[in-house]
Amino acid sequence: MAAFLKSIKRQYLIVFCILLIVYSVSFLCFSFNTVSSDINNVASQDAATFAGSLSCMGCHKDIYETHIKTAHYHTSAIASDKSIKGSFKDGQNRFRYNKFMEVAMEKKADSFFQTAYVSGTEYQREQFGVVIGSGRKGQTYLYWKGNELFQLPVSYYVPAHSWCNSPGYPATMIYFDRPIKSRCVECHGTYASYEENANSATLFDQNSIIYGVDCERCHGPSSKHVQYHTQHPGEKKGMFVINAKLLSRQQRMDACALCHSGFRKEVKPPFSFAVGDKLEDFSLPNYNTDSSSWLDVHGNQYGLLTSSKCYITSANMDCSSCHNVHKEEINNPKLYSTRCMNCHNEASHNFCTLTPAKGLNLADNCIDCHMPALPSKKIFLQMAETGAADLVRTHRVAVYKEQSDTFIAKLKKKK
Ligand code: HEC
Ligand code: HEC
Ligand code: HEC
Ligand code: HEC
Ligand code: HEC
Ligand code: HEC
Ligand code: HEC
Repeated sequence: MAAFLKSIKRQYLIVFCILLIVYSVSFLCFSFNTVSSDINNVASQDAATFAGSLSCMGCHKDIYETHIKTAHYHTSAIASDKSIKGSFKDGQNRFRYNKFMEVAMEKKADSFFQTAYVSGTEYQREQFGVVIGSGRKGQTYLYWKGNELFQLPVSYYVPAHSWCNSPGYPATMIYFDRPIKSRCVECHGTYASYEENANSATLFDQNSIIYGVDCERCHGPSSKHVQYHTQHPGEKKGMFVINAKLLSRQQRMDACALCHSGFRKEVKPPFSFAVGDKLEDFSLPNYNTDSSSWLDVHGNQYGLLTSSKCYITSANMDCSSCHNVHKEEINNPKLYSTRCMNCHNEASHNFCTLTPAKGLNLADNCIDCHMPALPSKKIFLQMAETGAADLVRTHRVAVYKEQSDTFIAKLKKKK
């Protein structure tokens, strides 16, 4: 039994690590400039044009208070007691590679370290600097060497509550040398000023980094907006800020696809893209857009949704048709089902055609039948030997007969 559990845990770790490889191998690039459309003449982006979410609180209190609880807001942070999810307690703070090599997670005053030991002798010690990942699924950690960022050898996998070897790292050696490029921060943060030196190392301006996917990642730098409305409290129209309602559907989709369309080919450098721009000018999809069959269910919500009949047939559907990104709404199938029923209901004669079994209330949960959590194909392939795969919520909305039957069977069992 113990061996079985151990093997499951190992599978988790492998899945996690593959997940992270998937995230990190090939990523897109964008650049920050001007907003292409004529939306109130939003200024170009440099550190001084950002106001920070705290400054929004006074006038957008409700949004602010729910936003700071989201996975977006927490997706990167300066390392601290609060942001690091793994345990530093004795007995839980080690990751062993083999008999001779281990890494200990150590806390000294307010600082946190990963220390590598080889045959009991300290070999290298680096300080946790930056945390990537809110801790829904996992976290990875970075350390500073001058103005460069490197990944620490040990990451954390949340479902197993366990430290693990970092993504794509060798199993037989403790590795501290993987440099972190700006595209990682582009998807997991709001802003970073950086330059590349002659050796193509990325040098960050540490103080410029705005951690987390914050308000201004989606609405554009807003210091002018804050200043204007502070000085003109009677103004009812939002000035100097991007109004999502004036954007086209493709512009709104691109604002999310920047980070939610999986692997893309870089055209322009990270942090070039601004909301309102056309994503295709900054990076290109890396898959054949005509064929959805092999689109992976992981990380490419954009590709999967845009291949669904819901999206193709309706003129206005976008990510906000189902998500209120200002709020943490995950694990609430009933709420999501109300979003489906905004378009699909008895009155509009396009409601579910399934004849409900006894005791089944369709309206409670459209999603486990039409957007089931499916094993990730890409991850599965790479794990063919063990046969375990990560489950992700597919964004290809369709009829899934098999999953529907399973769902009904599960309901019957509960009764
Ligand atoms: C001094 C008050 C004030 C502050 C501070 C403020 N806003 Fe606003 N904001 C307004 C007003 C007034 C409107 C227009 C009415 C509305 O939509 O609520 C507005 C509208 C908006 C809109 C909608 C634009 C539209 O036309 O629909 C966005 C987006 C926005 N603000 C973002 C922000 C962000 C991000 C921050 C913080 C960086 C911020 N605001 C700080 C007063 C403020
Ligand atoms: C193209 C954008 C993009 C890039 C580049 C990117 N990520 Fe991610 N990452 C995401 C998205 C989107 C998710 C959430 C995916 C989902 O749930 O489907 C995510 C999830 C994660 C998670 C899991 C978070 C959690 O708790 O669920 C970790 C850890 C992570 N990324 C680390 C990294 C690291 C480290 C890098 C750079 C080496 C990186 N990512 C680069 C977009 C990106
Ligand atoms: C992940 C992207 C994202 C983040 C982060 C984000 N927003 Fe929004 N926001 C949107 C989108 C998309 C809309 C338009 C929603 C719609 O079409 O109904 C919107 C709409 C708004 C509006 C106008 C409509 C309304 O609901 O009143 C305001 C004001 C606003 N956001 C403020 C903020 C503030 C303040 C923050 C941070 C505390 C924030 N947003 C964070 C994406 C985001
Ligand atoms: C700058 C990159 C970026 C942008 C832009 C972005 N996201 Fe995300 N999103 C992420 C990352 C990274 C995660 C994973 C956060 C984590 O858990 O660490 C995520 C997670 C999510 C989640 C899962 C939240 C949860 O609690 O499980 C949803 C839903 C989501 N994003 C929707 C959207 C929508 C809709 C938009 C566009 C309005 C958008 N995102 C724009 C990077 C981004
Ligand atoms: C913005 C409106 C809109 C929303 C929101 C929406 N749909 Fe649809 N959906 C459509 C349209 C339009 C079609 C195609 C025409 C039709 O069948 O009515 C469609 C088609 C479908 C189909 C048939 C797919 C196929 O391949 O034959 C299913 C199943 C479906 N939707 C389920 C859902 C579920 C479940 C949700 C919520 C998670 C949802 N829809 C949300 C508009 C929407
Ligand atoms: C038809 C409704 C619908 C639309 C449109 C939609 N989503 Fe979702 N999304 C969902 C549902 C339902 C879930 C699962 C919620 C849960 O598990 O509780 C989800 C979950 C997610 C997650 C978490 C994934 C995971 O497996 O943990 C991300 C990230 C996400 N959506 C991003 C997006 C983005 C980006 C878009 C636009 C390209 C989008 N969604 C459009 C319904 C939708
Ligand atoms: C128990 C699983 C289950 C639930 C719950 C469920 N559906 Fe369905 N749905 C199905 C199946 C299976 C079909 C195909 C039925 C058939 O063969 O006619 C279907 C058909 C549909 C269709 C027509 C698809 C087409 O081919 O045009 C739509 C639209 C739809 N469902 C929407 C919804 C919405 C919206 C909800 C939530 C209010 C929902 N469904 C809840 C299983 C389910």
